[in-house]
Amino acid sequence: MVATDLVEEILALKKERNAVILAHNYQSREIQELADFVGDSLGLSYHAADTEADVIAFCGVHFMGETAKIVNPAKTVVIPDMDAGCSLSDSCPPGQLEAFLRENAAKNYYVIAYINCSAGVKALSDVIVTSGNAIRIVEAAPKDRNILFVPDQNLGSWVMEKTGRKMDLWRGNCYVHVEFTRHSIARIREQYPDAQVVAHPECTYAVRMLADEVCSTEKMIGYCRDTPVDSFIIVTESGMLHRLRREIPGKTFIPGPTDACACADCRYMKMNTLEKLHDCLLKLEPQILIPEDIRVRAERPIRRMLELSK
Ligand code: 13P
Ligand code: SF4
Repeated sequence: MVATDLVEEILALKKERNAVILAHNYQSREIQELADFVGDSLGLSYHAADTEADVIAFCGVHFMGETAKIVNPAKTVVIPDMDAGCSLSDSCPPGQLEAFLRENAAKNYYVIAYINCSAGVKALSDVIVTSGNAIRIVEAAPKDRNILFVPDQNLGSWVMEKTGRKMDLWRGNCYVHVEFTRHSIARIREQYPDAQVVAHPECTYAVRMLADEVCSTEKMIGYCRDTPVDSFIIVTESGMLHRLRREIPGKTFIPGPTDACACADCRYMKMNTLEKLHDCLLKLEPQILIPEDIRVRAERPIRRMLELSK
């Protein structure tokens, strides 16, 4: 099928199914262009919670589809590829977190989980954060409790720097963002001395130190639009460049390189294609299904986050 026919078929199926297509900022240009909403994890969570559609087609990775299902148990949530996982989410299996909490029961941890985790981990958490609201939510955490932050140690240490709040960090990371190095970013900076460096907080401390701004993918849009500079080096997954170029056409966006590549792609995010999106709307499969006891426990910390970040 040629691409224009495929896009038309997807739009027709979307209408027939009364579906909404949500896409993360790291999706391919074709998917971003036909989605009803493109955004970061926080914006996507609000859209998923508010939608009146019967079907949510979630173009992102598995934990994002799960989040949509947790807040919409009666709706059908489909994702284009069931294998689109996340290295960060995988670095904190619920069984390991549960055992750690049991072994450290004396610490009476208040568990703050970055949204990039499974429903099982959310069910063990007190509150969820995204990169867009983590500072505000950590600041609001009970002052008399020890905090355990899971699963991203880089985002966790960035939040500690920003809030001054001490937290114990789970030692997980995103395999894409840790590929940027001090060397690879210093080199591109030398090549484009007038460009500002904008980095995601999942990057390592050494890379964050070289950045003019560290923020979530959504905040990158506002920062690059409002800062009176013409070019930016974007240190996050390459899909972000599509949105920046589409919404801020007058400026130049240079992908942040790794030591091995000119840009960084998340292999999980890039598993989604127009063909698979078409098929999931047609067959209503693969669907996200979550055992109800886990879903109910996972919903509480998500709702707490949505409330706190209003
Ligand atoms: P945000 O879009 O929330 O900044 O998250 C980035 C990410 O890595 C999602 O997988
Ligand atoms: Fe997970 Fe990293 Fe891919 Fe985001 S970019 S989905 S954190 S592996």
